[in-house]
Amino acid sequence: MNRRFFLFFLAVGLFVIGSVKAQTKVKKEVSFDKKVEILLKKMTLEEKVGQLNQYNGFWDVTGPTPKEGLAAKKYEDLKKGLVGSMLNVKGVKDVRALQKIAVEQTRLGIPLLFGFDVIHGYKTISPIPLAESASWDMDAIQKSAEMAADEASSVGINWTFAPMVDVSRDARWGRVMEGAGEDSYLGSRIAVARVKGFQGDLSSNKNILACAKHFAGYAFAESGKDYNSVDLGESTLQNVVFPPFKASLDAGVRTFMNSFNELNGIPATGNPYLQREVLKGDWKFKGFVVSDWGSIQEMKAHGFAKDDKQAAEIAINAGSDMDMESSAYVDYLAQLVHEGKVKETTVDDAVRRILRVKFELGLFDNPYKYCDEARELATVGKQEFQNEVLDMAKKSIVLLKNNNDVLPLKKSGQKIALIGALANDKTSPLGSWRIAADENTAVSVLEGLQAYKDNQLTYAKGADVALGSPKFILETKINTTDKSGFEEAITTAKKADVVILVLGEYGLQSGEGRSRADLGLPGVQQELLEAIYKVNSNIVLVLNNGRPLAIPWAEEHIPAIVEAWQLGTQSGNAIAQVLYGDYNPSGKLPMTFPRNVAQVPIYYNYKSTGRPIMNEPDSVFWSHYIDEKNTPLYPFGFGLSYSKFEYSNLKLSSQSFSKNGKIEVSVLVKNSGKVKGKEVVQLYIRDLIASITRPVLELKGFEMIELKPNETKRVTFEINEKTIEFFTANRKWEAETGDFKVFIGGNSVETLKGEFQFVK
Ligand code: NOJ
Repeated sequence: MNRRFFLFFLAVGLFVIGSVKAQTKVKKEVSFDKKVEILLKKMTLEEKVGQLNQYNGFWDVTGPTPKEGLAAKKYEDLKKGLVGSMLNVKGVKDVRALQKIAVEQTRLGIPLLFGFDVIHGYKTISPIPLAESASWDMDAIQKSAEMAADEASSVGINWTFAPMVDVSRDARWGRVMEGAGEDSYLGSRIAVARVKGFQGDLSSNKNILACAKHFAGYAFAESGKDYNSVDLGESTLQNVVFPPFKASLDAGVRTFMNSFNELNGIPATGNPYLQREVLKGDWKFKGFVVSDWGSIQEMKAHGFAKDDKQAAEIAINAGSDMDMESSAYVDYLAQLVHEGKVKETTVDDAVRRILRVKFELGLFDNPYKYCDEARELATVGKQEFQNEVLDMAKKSIVLLKNNNDVLPLKKSGQKIALIGALANDKTSPLGSWRIAADENTAVSVLEGLQAYKDNQLTYAKGADVALGSPKFILETKINTTDKSGFEEAITTAKKADVVILVLGEYGLQSGEGRSRADLGLPGVQQELLEAIYKVNSNIVLVLNNGRPLAIPWAEEHIPAIVEAWQLGTQSGNAIAQVLYGDYNPSGKLPMTFPRNVAQVPIYYNYKSTGRPIMNEPDSVFWSHYIDEKNTPLYPFGFGLSYSKFEYSNLKLSSQSFSKNGKIEVSVLVKNSGKVKGKEVVQLYIRDLIASITRPVLELKGFEMIELKPNETKRVTFEINEKTIEFFTANRKWEAETGDFKVFIGGNSVETLKGEFQFVK
């Protein structure tokens, strides 16, 4: 066949397949809607309310039937069809037992959704989300979510409360560990990767529902204190907070979770602007919104509802579809409908959304779709997952400093002193969201380094980070007194060629409810670092932490610093492979590191003030501190490699573009180092004059490239209207004409610059 004909037939064939697929999708959607309507018609008001009720399953599900107390009430409600979903039930045996009650003992047999916080892995733990984000590797992040979904789904879970897509600028807030950092563009890309990874093809039993949380503004808690009030203007909400949520929605996320905080005086859970106007109105979200844990009844403490009944009324009317653990809906919604305070059509809308998702998941066809004991046995903790989390862990590490080529370590003939309690900790690397992982299951740094046998390795603890192994870290549990191990550590360090100090935060020091007022090394660790430095300054500082730390002394004195976050089950192996150069680090910071906690919130995409800089010496009347620099310790996007990347020759295809047009901007990147390496090339812009002031820099693209020594590559980005759009003074997303600067580099500070215009 002639090539032209072949291509013609191929194109026709692909078109036909495409349109058949699209038609099937539409048909399926229609049929889901029809099925929902048929079922809805059969439901009593009480049964409808039941679908909106989510209970925490805390009792021994397969043990004796609970006879009294809360467990008994929940159990009875389940049998009456008054529960639509459970959370925190895990294991096929338990899930099956509860699903069986819902399906076989209730009048309509509607299956349950089983939700769980699969945040960074289920039992096989991947790096904390902030660490994964440092990889800037969307394929790896998607794969990590896929793996987590595979493992979690094998134990019966069909819904994860992830990804958390809150843009976070405040390192004091403990939950920065759970997000993608401070940038909306990077955060949106990562949100999409995670949603796709978890949800994939929902007809498969290896995929589960995802949940974009916490809608909205949760990360902007005043003073970085978890759950605190949030006051945010519309421009920041639209331009900074919303984009990752919108991106999740566009990627098909089926559920949203609202948040604990109030936003501009109205709790998010009872906020019609967020849930009805924006999410279900402007964005046309078809899935459902679950409240955060008890956040409906917490509106009483906010001073927004006088009792649970009023809280239920406010929440449902504002668009919260499912009540997580407040019992306010199950206890009061039917009554509220009878009293005319809530329309039954409002309840119907929430029920429709939930039932639709259950149909989509295939639970009506097979309620036990996720209940396969043999698969559970073969899946949980399997070797393939170990390999995947190791790969993700290596990609998440960020090399912050490497003077005098201290790293990579020589593989033989070296005396290495390994110091720090975290170096021998097999639990802390699992991070904060490890609710299904067993304690002591991470590979420690000590174990990781022991695999390199041709060096002499000596370990000394130095000092504990926390006293005991506390479940909740309170200030009183941090070791601020016990220095009894210092002497041994100092002696060990004296004899070594290189000292590796593993310092930072205890595993439960970040995460929900773990805000910190101090961002230094906790307890006596700073003292330990300085004491060791006095006897041997050839130090590699390996940081384990769930948030940016302020470590100016270390940056000034320590020759090599490696940011290793909390890297999950394979943590120690990943760190060892990076230290020895078997993996060339390529991570870049997704969040700015401050010099001083007082600089927080500090982020790269800040706005210029009217007095950004004063050139007259000794002037104080400009925006600065008189006792601290304005600049960060490490900027957003920063990270070194064992290779050396040089940027040159920034070129623009044209100086301007107009509507529907585009320009290309490119640079040459050369690896002038001695080893092959990966580099994340970053594109930023600045919109110079706009109807609402724009940040001094905005990330608009990035590409990861790999270069051999001496290899050069031209990296090209496209800039079009989408790139420069923002939520303008017209209260809509649009591109404004004017002058722009463009920057390309390996981080947000060291960049090559150009200029362009967007014209009418
Ligand atoms: C409260 C947290 O804020 C939320 O993120 C989590 O999913 C729920 N608890 C359920 O555990």
